Amino acid sequence: MYAQLVKTDGKGVKPLDEMTPEERVFQQRIDDDQKIEPKDWMPDGYRKNLIRQISQHAHSELVGQLPESNWITRAPTLERKAILLAKVQDEAGHGLYLYCAAETLGISRDQMFDQLHSGKSKYSSIFNYPTLTWADMGAVGWLVDGAAIMNQVPLQRTSYGPYARAMVRICKEESFHQRQGFHIMMKMANGTAAQKRMAQDALNRFWYPSLMMFGPSDKDSVHSAQSMAWKIKINTNDELRQKFVDQTVPQAEYLGLTVPDKDLRWNDETGSYVFTEPDWDEFYAVLAGNGPCNKERLQARVDAWNDGDWFREGLLANAAKRRAKQGEAA
Ligand code: 3HC
Repeated sequence: MYAQLVKTDGKGVKPLDEMTPEERVFQQRIDDDQKIEPKDWMPDGYRKNLIRQISQHAHSELVGQLPESNWITRAPTLERKAILLAKVQDEAGHGLYLYCAAETLGISRDQMFDQLHSGKSKYSSIFNYPTLTWADMGAVGWLVDGAAIMNQVPLQRTSYGPYARAMVRICKEESFHQRQGFHIMMKMANGTAAQKRMAQDALNRFWYPSLMMFGPSDKDSVHSAQSMAWKIKINTNDELRQKFVDQTVPQAEYLGLTVPDKDLRWNDETGSYVFTEPDWDEFYAVLAGNGPCNKERLQARVDAWNDGDWFREGLLANAAKRRAKQGEAA
């Protein structure tokens, strides 16, 4: 059984013989690829781990709007502006599906926002990097959304029903986002010499932060073993990172751009690329709040929340009035 297999790596996954009867039945359902639904019994750890992952994912969608919304007013054509606007709106929608999925596990939206605003809950490290030029919109779509899809397509098969179902629509939209980013890169890479330099510069700056999106290397991943035993995660961080590199390097070649890794080489034996790992010290510094834009990003979310206070109050007051009226009518 899966849980026993995972235990051998020593990352603290409970072996079958230490499980309660309820936990065994639960693990059997997971191993049989049955979906777990909100009202089903589930171990506390499963619930907590899912809330952690889904809420961080939702926060990433919301914070992920910031580096791109920065360019809506400066898009080079009306068509590009409309596309970027639609993309940024999609990300808000993704956040909402994911917050709804997390709410089915017994946490409220207010609690999740509180965790984000207080720094207790993380969001993807990638969004703590600045977007300096229009080419960055290409690199973000191509690389960041590309990395997001690599991670999220398998999550359509995750064991928790509401999360798996939310991922189906999200993946379709992310796929469009990835293509629009690649299209921007194609235009820039085949444009003037200055535009090609901008495209290369964007690739140089976003390559390693994109590789970091998959999380720490497997040996340092805290949650992978248990999350995989519960099928909250389907692949390890390193597996997905490798797939991303293998898929993306030929795309960079097609664009006529150079991946900023002098040791990058194809390995015939493994049928995959050998590449240089990201700087993990930088990754952990960003997670600790010390990336180039951490403070700015979090402040933007806190400000948006505070500025929306009067609106939320109005909505709640209106809902209370309606309920009271309905009560009178009944
Ligand atoms: N950025 C921020 N934190 C990260 C991270 C990253 N790139 N990678 C790992 N971490 C954090 C983890 O959250 C965990 O911290 P915690 O215990 O405080 O929660 C710690 O580092 C250890 O990492 P693990 O490998 O043990 O963590 P996970 O097993 O959760 O794996 C993950 C990390 C692969 C990101 C996993 O959580 C996951 O697959 N999440 C769902 C997908 C997701 O959140 N994607 C966000 C991408 S951005 C996006 O989708 C927006 C789109 O519009 C582009």
